[in-house]
Amino acid sequence: MPHPSRHLLAIEGLEPPHIADLLDLAESYVLLNRSGKTQRDLLKGRTLINLFFEDSTRTRTSFELAGKRLGADVINMSVSTSSVNKGETLLDTASTLNAMQCDLLVVRHGQSGAPALLSQKVDAAVINAGDGTHEHPTQALLDALTIRRHKGRLEGLVVAICGDIAHSRVARSNIHLLTTMGSRVRIVGPPTLIPADAARLGVEVFHDMKAGLKDADVVMMLRLQRERMSGGLVPSAREFFRFYGLDAEKLAHAKPDSIVMHPGPMNRGVEIDSAIADHPTRSVIGEQVEMGVACRMAVLDVLARRLPRNR
Ligand code: ASP
Ligand code: CP
Repeated sequence: MPHPSRHLLAIEGLEPPHIADLLDLAESYVLLNRSGKTQRDLLKGRTLINLFFEDSTRTRTSFELAGKRLGADVINMSVSTSSVNKGETLLDTASTLNAMQCDLLVVRHGQSGAPALLSQKVDAAVINAGDGTHEHPTQALLDALTIRRHKGRLEGLVVAICGDIAHSRVARSNIHLLTTMGSRVRIVGPPTLIPADAARLGVEVFHDMKAGLKDADVVMMLRLQRERMSGGLVPSAREFFRFYGLDAEKLAHAKPDSIVMHPGPMNRGVEIDSAIADHPTRSVIGEQVEMGVACRMAVLDVLARRLPRNR
């Protein structure tokens, strides 16, 4: 089924066949990447600009790699040294990049809805690389691909997403994707870190880790996003770890073959114990990063098909 938009702004609104098609295509890119081959003709002559108004290690680097492996010219715009510091607005910055005939614009911004706003002003295909507390669609795709490769399916799985749900765009995109694909999603965290609209998200809410993790197939841990918190929503890192940090004792309540995920960056000893983060068989955190490159290649591929031939 063709992708429904010329942009990728959110998972919400995508139907199961759209998601399945992206995951299947990403799977083929996993194999290509592992073979050491590239497909540099696909985005030849296309320009991809990474426009990150918030810090990033994984997302920015993997979009750069994905673009280069498909043959695009990739520009990483450094916002911290750009004319944004001279007062230029987001929309004027976008118009400037538009005039340079950028084809694919990858945007991370602290404000929910910023990529959607940009998409109305530029000719490029806009990809949301994380906007405020709203969505991080390519993260959810790479998480789903990682789960599918380990469990063979998404339907019917019990997925526990734990920690700071309220400030997490990763949680929101994962909830939309996983519920759309038929997983049973639980969110687990203290009441202060559960979003007010949890009921309409189609998830079960737990405040106790042992109950929330019981018989889960997948345990996904999230960072405390203090940069988005106003006021003390959590007592102390040490106390948070005691009640909500994933250690061997809490993980023992999930299924014995459950996998442990984390989008990164991790705060070891706060939401996850080092022994679990580095667990040789249960942790799939490194694999998530590998899947990120393949999923971003799939997204660039699908959106590039809808670009006009010559701009
Ligand atoms: N890297 C992810 C994001 O940008 C998760 C996090 O920062 O904790 O949303
Ligand atoms: N998971 C994720 O988005 O990581 P970065 O913030 O490092 O890009």
